[in-house]
Amino acid sequence: MNDPTIFRKPNNRKLDVSEIRKDFPILQTSVKGNPLVYLDNAASSHMPQCVIDRISEYHLSEHSNIHRAVHKLSEEATAKFEESRTIVKEFLNARDEKEIIFTRGTTGGINLVAKSYGEKFLREGDEVLISHLEHHSNIVPWQMLCQKVGAELKVIPVTQEGEVDLEEYKSMLSTKTKFLSLTHVSNALGTVLPIKTMIKEARSYGIPVLVDGAQGVPHMTIDLRDIDCDFYVFSGHKMCGPSGVGVLYGKEELLNKMDPYEGGGDMILSVTFEKTLYNKIPYKFEAGTPPIAQAIGLGRAVNYLQSIGLNQINQHEKELLAYATKRLDEISGLTIIGRSKHKAGVISFVMDGVHPHDVGTLLNDKGVAVRTGHHCAQPTMQRFGVPATTRASFYLYNTISDIDQLINGIHSIKKIFD
Ligand code: ALA
Repeated sequence: MNDPTIFRKPNNRKLDVSEIRKDFPILQTSVKGNPLVYLDNAASSHMPQCVIDRISEYHLSEHSNIHRAVHKLSEEATAKFEESRTIVKEFLNARDEKEIIFTRGTTGGINLVAKSYGEKFLREGDEVLISHLEHHSNIVPWQMLCQKVGAELKVIPVTQEGEVDLEEYKSMLSTKTKFLSLTHVSNALGTVLPIKTMIKEARSYGIPVLVDGAQGVPHMTIDLRDIDCDFYVFSGHKMCGPSGVGVLYGKEELLNKMDPYEGGGDMILSVTFEKTLYNKIPYKFEAGTPPIAQAIGLGRAVNYLQSIGLNQINQHEKELLAYATKRLDEISGLTIIGRSKHKAGVISFVMDGVHPHDVGTLLNDKGVAVRTGHHCAQPTMQRFGVPATTRASFYLYNTISDIDQLINGIHSIKKIFD
């Protein structure tokens, strides 16, 4: 089995992207007779062969339910599942495996916290703070919570560049603020939020903080002890892992105080018709059979990313972003939305007289996959006065030539519409 996680070690050199591309079978495919140029990584990235093989190996020879039986397969599957928890814990520099909860994804993690923490600790008159750059999954659960308990949802404004207005943010913090939930990186514009600075401010009021890391973890080194948030959530399918699995990191002290999110098997110590005693963390939050194969696949995806190096991936994406920004800026009638000084490899733009869906469809004809629409961030679109954008988002396997294909595609669209 060709598993680069075994022999490859990160170094300080630039990424060898042509070698990396060989790890991803799907990148060898074509669309409408053109080689696939995949620039929709913020929605979902692809899995390298070693992750696909790991999941397949699990199904071929290791599958069983976990934490339940004494037979060999169950013990082995349990050990592999728990090994993934350790891999994730070390990857994030969390303090303990207990702080790592497997979820169905970022959305599942935020809903869990909004319900289990929010419904227990928030009251009428309290305030929940989010930014104007949030994905719907970091808006709607808090809206639902506020409606339920009578709290108020407040939104930190963003500047024309797409950056959080820090002065406004500071002025919004008060003793009424009882929760802060922020994205690490805007999925729609690519802005990297100054979360460490913002968390420090929130700390002075004792406000718990959740960070939506769906677009953070796949693209940069994450040290949770350094970031010092209370909760951090992300999904497997945006970081070379499978869909259907994600992680909620929570500080042990807070997780212990929270009530279970769902009831069912594995989250209990004992059940009678009169009373249930709940299991300890993390199991208290993992009711039912978890996504076993997916969690094991995620562990392998983490090892894969580590074998390449998150700092190197980040640097590579910065170079792609700088090149794409320069090339797109040369095109008349094209406007980039979001000009933050700190951006991840995400670039959103609109073209005069062409709807983003037409841009997406015509780019697809050239084999170029981008996302078009509101990117599940309608308030962000409203802030910039556009109903939708075209978004290109990069990952470790993208090349300068991919961006050239995007630019060529845009030029051919301009010819049709000019
Ligand atoms: N959150 C995903 C995106 O940004 C689906 O496309």
